Amino acid sequence: MAYRITLIPGDGIGPEVVTATQDVVSAAGVAVDWEIHHAGIEVAKLTGSPLPLPVIDAVRKNRIALKGPVTTPIGGGFRSVNVTLRQTLDLYANVRPIRSLPGVDPRFDVDMVIVRENTEGLYAGLELMILPGVAQSIKLTTERGSTRIAEFAFRYAKKHGRSKVTIVHKANIMKISDGLALDCARRVAVGHPEIQLGEMIVDAAAMTMVRDPNRLGVIVTENLYGDILSDLGAGLVGGLGIVPGANIGDDAAVFEAVHGSAPDIAGKGYANPTALVQSAVMMLRHLGEHDAGDRIERALTTLYRAGQVRTRDLGGAASTSDFTRALCAEIERP
Ligand code: NAI
Ligand code: MG
Repeated sequence: MAYRITLIPGDGIGPEVVTATQDVVSAAGVAVDWEIHHAGIEVAKLTGSPLPLPVIDAVRKNRIALKGPVTTPIGGGFRSVNVTLRQTLDLYANVRPIRSLPGVDPRFDVDMVIVRENTEGLYAGLELMILPGVAQSIKLTTERGSTRIAEFAFRYAKKHGRSKVTIVHKANIMKISDGLALDCARRVAVGHPEIQLGEMIVDAAAMTMVRDPNRLGVIVTENLYGDILSDLGAGLVGGLGIVPGANIGDDAAVFEAVHGSAPDIAGKGYANPTALVQSAVMMLRHLGEHDAGDRIERALTTLYRAGQVRTRDLGGAASTSDFTRALCAEIERP
């Protein structure tokens, strides 16, 4: 029976990488009945909201979605579709594996994971202009939120055979908010004696990621630090065209790349679909389709190792469809 999965194509390069990913999932032999729902700027022009309720309801009903990036205008306009979706569906864990692909950036062989708290922190939307010329953003940190993300990170580490979780914080400065998150992580760690707990201040973590990333194992951190460190991680392994992600809650999960809508290359047909393809691999494993996930991952490794078919972000000349064709052929190779 086909899986019913909500598909949000997004905008910018979204539809290009989404189509490619659908082809790859199909080449891996997984039947999916994609339920397509649109979100983003064009939808806002038509309906007044960039994230109409039926989109949220569809994700809730199917419990699983694959999503392309959605543009969020800076300043006025509307609230981020991504932040709204994550908060409304309580997708509290944003999981971003940072893993090198063969031959892409030989400076490092990175294999680490960032688990980013996805519903609180400075993304809680508590911002106001308290006086003319004085703006305030409130960083929201709760015991519940900090405990469940730490618990998630430790369970993730155990499930994926990783021996260390590093809590990344700035509790030396934000003694109360980051202090609370740190205390919660330490308490959670007590219940997982087989996993080593590391603690690191966020600026030191940024440097460590550049010099010795694997030392951190699984990073667990609040929203903003996780956002920034995951782009740093993308930079370590060849850029945003590569790094996948998953937004996971107790009732639903939305799989999407770390990158945005890339307006500078949108519509040109040469976006790298690898990041969304790898997000789909995470989605397939979440569904229990481990063989299909493994086949796609093996094919990606083979294709990158051979090095002949590369998109422009990685110095090649392949278009999105050239790359996708080559990947599908590799997956289907008997
Ligand atoms: P971006 O990630 O869209 O692009 C940054 C740079 O990376 C650009 O030079 C772009 O061409 C390149 N890039 C990104 N993905 C690529 C791919 N798959 N293949 C080849 N090159 C790729 O970040 P930017 O420009 O800061 O944001 C653009 C818009 O995307 C903003 O409106 C932002 O709010 C939104 N955004 C949405 C996200 C989401 O829907 N989850 C996540 C991040 C940003
Ligand atoms: Mg980001």
